[in-house]
Amino acid sequence: MKRIAVVMAMSAEASPVLTALSAEAATGVAPLVVRWFTATRHRSEILIALNGRDRRFGVDSIGTEPAALSTYVAIDRFRPDVVISAGTAGGWERAGGVIGDVYVSDGCVVHHDRRIAIEGFREYGIGAYPVLPARQMAATLGLKTGIVTTSNSLDENDDDRLLISASGAAVKDMEAAAVAYVCEQMSVPFMALKAITDLVDHPIATADQFNANLSMASKRLSEKLLEVLDWLIPRERGDMS
Ligand code: ADE
Repeated sequence: MKRIAVVMAMSAEASPVLTALSAEAATGVAPLVVRWFTATRHRSEILIALNGRDRRFGVDSIGTEPAALSTYVAIDRFRPDVVISAGTAGGWERAGGVIGDVYVSDGCVVHHDRRIAIEGFREYGIGAYPVLPARQMAATLGLKTGIVTTSNSLDENDDDRLLISASGAAVKDMEAAAVAYVCEQMSVPFMALKAITDLVDHPIATADQFNANLSMASKRLSEKLLEVLDWLIPRERGDMS
């Protein structure tokens, strides 16, 4: 794979990998939507597309809308062979989650906050977007595998829990399904790589766990993302299973 786009939401999540790749900021690319960084690795072009900073609130633009915009711009202008949604995520003690573990998406990526009880739209709401087969890569690189489920909330409510338990998801984030949706519509292979900062069924508040573990998990994410890039670069699109 000669062109790999990595879509990320928070600058703190991206900081270790930008340093490790000696990535350089690109200017003039849809500055209200994204902050682009580029790097070369083993003669492949790597794009790190950060989903920008909110103009009014001044915070990193987390969540599905910025992720979809950013992914669209990345595919339209960079024409990647593969898109990786990389970042931190929540897990569950009940699903064997451990803070600092890194997961690669397996099976599909779903939404757990889009409940549409109308014929045909139920499945549209859940999404179940395809992901690249990555079990062999996961076994070699020591990654966990699981279904990634997305919503725009850090916590989970009782309705979310019903859809999460129906999908059997192991990882909970705020972007992967939006990135995967755009990838499916634009016929670009997709994978998610997520490092766990918090366990949402643990008695300590999710936000407190997230803040305490963000830096450590971002370093773990960077280490594994480099290994994933090195795995993908020599391979062809159909050469993953
Ligand atoms: N990113 C890190 N922790 C998360 C959580 N609990 N839910 C969604 N996204 C997250």
